[in-house]
Amino acid sequence: MLPKRTIGLFTRYSQPKTIIKKAFISTETFMSSNSRLKNKTVFITGATSGIGLACAWNYARAGAHLVLSGRRADKLEEISAQLKESVPGTQVYTKPLDVRDKVQVDSFVHQLPQQFKNVDILVNNAGLVLGLEPLEKISEADMDTMLNTNVKGLVFCTQALLPSLRKTGGHIVNIGSIAGLEAYKNGSIYCASKHAVKAITQSLRCELLDSNVKITVIDPGMVETEFSLIRFRGDADKAAAVYAGIDPLKSQDIAEIVVFATSRPKHVEISNLTVYPHGQASATQIHRKQ
Ligand SMILES: NC(=O)c1ccc[n+]([C@@H]2O[C@H](COP(=O)([O-])OP(=O)(O)OC[C@H]3O[C@@H](n4cnc5c(N)ncnc54)[C@H](OP(=O)(O)O)[C@@H]3O)[C@@H](O)[C@H]2O)c1
Repeated sequence: MLPKRTIGLFTRYSQPKTIIKKAFISTETFMSSNSRLKNKTVFITGATSGIGLACAWNYARAGAHLVLSGRRADKLEEISAQLKESVPGTQVYTKPLDVRDKVQVDSFVHQLPQQFKNVDILVNNAGLVLGLEPLEKISEADMDTMLNTNVKGLVFCTQALLPSLRKTGGHIVNIGSIAGLEAYKNGSIYCASKHAVKAITQSLRCELLDSNVKITVIDPGMVETEFSLIRFRGDADKAAAVYAGIDPLKSQDIAEIVVFATSRPKHVEISNLTVYPHGQASATQIHRKQ
């Protein structure tokens, strides 16, 4: 080992005379992910189940305060009580919210209690698919539900929370899908809605370039949640068949990634992440074990 001397950011080795630039490491880089999230306020849509619910638990464990929404009031109450009991000190605000209703979204945000008003992270997660029908058979009602939830709901929440996010130097995470990267047979409207999420994220990133707000889209492949049960309108056998012969992603897998993406240093913006379970390579290419 050569004798060395450190001068400022440079290390000088006596023989040969080489100057090696040391990486400049800021205090922020040394902070752990969890300490960057401590006392941040995280607003999660669709927190009553699946990915949104797993995000709530992971952010609570990281010391963040939570604003949780979804349409099911009883679920929200139950989740709030469990979080407060299992992660002491967690501050949770819950209130039912249907993201399709702009008036409801605006008044929800307007009426946030003082300690939850400064939202740092918005997780636009609420979303769903209905049916697996060819385009010519899709009802207008299903089309409206998917587009109004997955697209307009995401935009309403973003519009309502951007003033707060600009104040806090916040972060938006949109939960997209691999259905937003490629279209598949009998998935036209859902695929269209998730393609829209991708486009909206890209446009918004350009609009936010001169702001202190970051934006990330996460595109999961197959995640085992209530998603397929909703798609097949409560038919548990059909829902289970979706995951047959494959070890699908769990909502926890996606939540860990959401938390990771939002706990990078200020200058690091993860733009998009595609996540598959091993054995899946696209919406239709799936290796199923017999
Ligand atoms: N599971 C997958 O394979 C998969 C793959 C790629 C992307 N995704 C996306 O991941 C996100 C979460 O889905 P998930 O898999 O966790 O499914 P999930 O378990 O069915 O959860 C969906 C959540 O969205 C909420 N929601 C639905 N409509 C709503 C509305 N109008 N207003 C407010 N909340 C609403 C539901 O709550 P309430 O019923 O209480 O309103 C629920 O909390 C969705 O955007 C989905 O498109 C899922």
